[in-house]
Amino acid sequence: NCPSLRTFQNGTIEKSEFVRATGEDEKRYYRITTAPIHGETGNVRYVLELIQDVTEEKTLQAQVVQASKLAAIGELASGVAHEINNPLSSISVCVEEMAELVRSDEADEQEILECIDNVRREIYRCKQITTGLLNFSRKEEPKRVPTDVNQVMKNVALLVRYRAELSRKQIRYEYGEDLPLILAHPDELAQVFLNILINALDFTPSGGQIEVKTALDGRSSLVVEVRDSGCGIAPRDLSRIFSPFFTTKPRGKGTGLGLSISKRIVERHGGTIEVESEKGKGTTVRIVLPTNGSRSPLNGTGIV
Ligand SMILES: Nc1ncnc2c1ncn2[C@@H]1O[C@H](COP(=O)(O)OP(=O)(O)OP(=O)(O)O)[C@@H](O)[C@H]1O
Ligand SMILES: [Mg+2]
Repeated sequence: NCPSLRTFQNGTIEKSEFVRATGEDEKRYYRITTAPIHGETGNVRYVLELIQDVTEEKTLQAQVVQASKLAAIGELASGVAHEINNPLSSISVCVEEMAELVRSDEADEQEILECIDNVRREIYRCKQITTGLLNFSRKEEPKRVPTDVNQVMKNVALLVRYRAELSRKQIRYEYGEDLPLILAHPDELAQVFLNILINALDFTPSGGQIEVKTALDGRSSLVVEVRDSGCGIAPRDLSRIFSPFFTTKPRGKGTGLGLSISKRIVERHGGTIEVESEKGKGTTVRIVLPTNGSRSPLNGTGIV
């Protein structure tokens, strides 16, 4: 797996990257480019090797990803606050009811237990929302873990629900059953799903429909599809939507980074992302992710 050797053998220009620990908590990233220099007979005579220190580039990239994540969360903050307010109100009602029951003479143990159950359920709901948010805003974890794509989507669904409700757009979810777990960064996948769903919401007029579907795709991959009935993308823009900073949103509204970051994340997971669109009719984003072949049933604890 030596780039110089490959260049020597095939005459191709090769690029690869490696990382070196330079201190306890410090790493530096290097990019090697090798190019052939041909002799008179056309064979490869020398190999030119260029080593670049790309640590700053990597750091900046990570900062951009983190900043766009936080921006997405910022946009959703009011919705999330609302999602937490509802269970809090129920908890407060339940607690009042319990106090009332205890004060009155006819305190019925069964009724009190029911109230406690309600409170437990609502606390669980709040915890899921805040945990989802905390996980999402965390800087990316270096390790991939077995991940339930449906659960990731359910957490994201919770974050966008209020925004959809406010703008009178309906999101329908169709979760594939018995999907295998995949080896992934759940927070990064959440970021991708969030970007795609926010796009679908932003580019769909009030009253529109969005369909989200997860399913197996053949034997060794699964597919996540988000279909909207929005304004669609003009053919000449379709080739540019994955470029960083390409946006058709009004000035100051969009960064144009959502799709380019999503593409990078999906490709780092060995997957693909494709967009099909017809102006005026709607857009479908299709993400295909490889599975590691192991099948594991879902636990069915989704709360959306
Ligand atoms: N579902 C969609 N319907 C119509 N156009 C879309 C859709 N998704 C993406 N686009 C087009 O692709 C462009 C780039 O999308 P991207 O998510 O990268 O950036 P953005 O949405 O403009 O900005 P940001 O993600 O920061 O809010 C959008 O400006 C829009 O023109
Ligand atoms: Mg976007």
